[in-house]
Amino acid sequence: MQFPEYRPRRLRRTETLRRMVRETYLHVNDLILPLFVAAGKEVKNPINSMPGHFQLSVNHIVEEAKEAFGLGIPAVLLFGIPEKKDERGTGAYDPNGVVQRAVKSIKSKVPDLVVITDVCLCEYTSHGHCGLIKDNDVENDSTLELLGRMALSHAQAGADIVAPSDMMDGRVAEIRDTLDENGFDQTIIMSYAAKYASGFYGPFREAAESAPKFGDRRSYQMDPANALEAVREVTLDVEEGADIIMVKPALPYLDIVRRVREEFDLPVAAYNVSGEFAMVKAAAEKGWIDGPRVMMECLTSIKRAGADLILTYFAKEAAHLLNEGKV
Ligand code: PBG
Repeated sequence: MQFPEYRPRRLRRTETLRRMVRETYLHVNDLILPLFVAAGKEVKNPINSMPGHFQLSVNHIVEEAKEAFGLGIPAVLLFGIPEKKDERGTGAYDPNGVVQRAVKSIKSKVPDLVVITDVCLCEYTSHGHCGLIKDNDVENDSTLELLGRMALSHAQAGADIVAPSDMMDGRVAEIRDTLDENGFDQTIIMSYAAKYASGFYGPFREAAESAPKFGDRRSYQMDPANALEAVREVTLDVEEGADIIMVKPALPYLDIVRRVREEFDLPVAAYNVSGEFAMVKAAAEKGWIDGPRVMMECLTSIKRAGADLILTYFAKEAAHLLNEGKV
């Protein structure tokens, strides 16, 4: 096929023609909405760097969950901001903790909405790290038991899916064992399998009040320069029993999303993280880009790269546009 016999522009001439040859469609079923559960009553604190997002007490989380499900969004992902933090992150596996209470409430009021919980200690520890600290280091093996307990407490509260985001070695196997031993063999594990040590988590750490008090997360999250290591990380999580594998962040790592899609046959999720959201919002606010258009372009690109599911703070806005048939 060569010019002038072949002219690619022929198929781009009208919107109807473009619709006919479009390869990728974003669907509301692809979207997962992350939410931040705060302790207390009637709390609705705006998160500065994430316009339209709030720290919400349980009653408001339920309203938000209802709205999301009404828009056709199939799932929410819950993060907790506990009242108190301590060295061992006890709030994380407290049967009466913020997330556990939010899960119960959502499952009783919106039972068909899939509830996913983030399993990680950083929002609950006074030092802000994702595991227990010993000699200024995050200790892997002693953290595993706590992650297992945390996941179990979420399953007991009614969570459909638990999502370990801590990046400790061996945590998927530990969580699967703990769940199975306690009769939760139907609880799904969505593992943050290839999670990078990323500057794009900045706004999230404000939202979840989870920035580390010393050092950083580079000894457990992955080096942004590595791709083969992502394949090894995902392989381990699949062997340990993950049902859904996630790549995080999404946009700067679309090569990893594609690679994971090609090498594994499980559903692939990609996390369009807080910094990716905040950049689009900030530029749109300044009038430098067309916000909704860039949002849809970003989400479609993540899907085109191979993601089946997209965790995104844009979920509600994108669902509105999709439902109105505007895209
Ligand atoms: C917890 C966790 C983080 C995110 C999801 N789970 C923060 C981190 O690892 O520091 C980031 C999500 C986002 O930026 O939207 N470990």
